[in-house]
Amino acid sequence: MADPTVKDRPVQWPSPWPYDFPVEGTAASAPDKVARVAGVEPAPPVQMTRRSAFGAAFLGWGAFLTAVGVGKLGLVRFLFPNVSFEEPQEFPTAPPESFSRDTVDETWKKNGVWIANVEGSIIAISTVCTHLGCTPNWLPSESKFKCPCHGSGYYMNGVNFEGPTPRPLERFRVYIGDDGKLWVDKNMKCQVEQGTCGDRKFGIPA
Ligand code: FES
Repeated sequence: MADPTVKDRPVQWPSPWPYDFPVEGTAASAPDKVARVAGVEPAPPVQMTRRSAFGAAFLGWGAFLTAVGVGKLGLVRFLFPNVSFEEPQEFPTAPPESFSRDTVDETWKKNGVWIANVEGSIIAISTVCTHLGCTPNWLPSESKFKCPCHGSGYYMNGVNFEGPTPRPLERFRVYIGDDGKLWVDKNMKCQVEQGTCGDRKFGIPA
């Protein structure tokens, strides 16, 4: 008995399997096939009207332009760095005559500076201990700076005399500004033990 060829096989179409591919004709959608197998009329194809096409295009472009706008906002934000809230490194204090002889003014300690009128000069002394960086306290009754961390002590001029610190407190540049006030410039400093504080940049005659 000869084998039946593909041509001789009985055609079973529409197939009971709703997702089978059609033999001929246009491809029906899966829902249409399900409806056909179930014996009901398939739903009419969805008609795209001009209005719905415009609506879809409007929505698409709206989403696209929104995404582009958000991206540009991010770019603009990137161009402007965060605001720095650090204390300024150069700032005015007060007229030189307001600093009395042999006193230490603590008004600008928050800026990291004591203004001292000592030995005939007005100087700006750093508030950073030269041992390990703590902030000493000014003790007027003992006329000295005393570090609370390990006990280093400094004279009014910032020179160390007790405790573990190896060297004096540093000093910053001072000058008289156009406003007649004593200005402190922390961008420039000197070290007494190296002999770099003799320059007029680091002391205004009192
Ligand atoms: S940090 Fe000031 S004495 Fe050690």
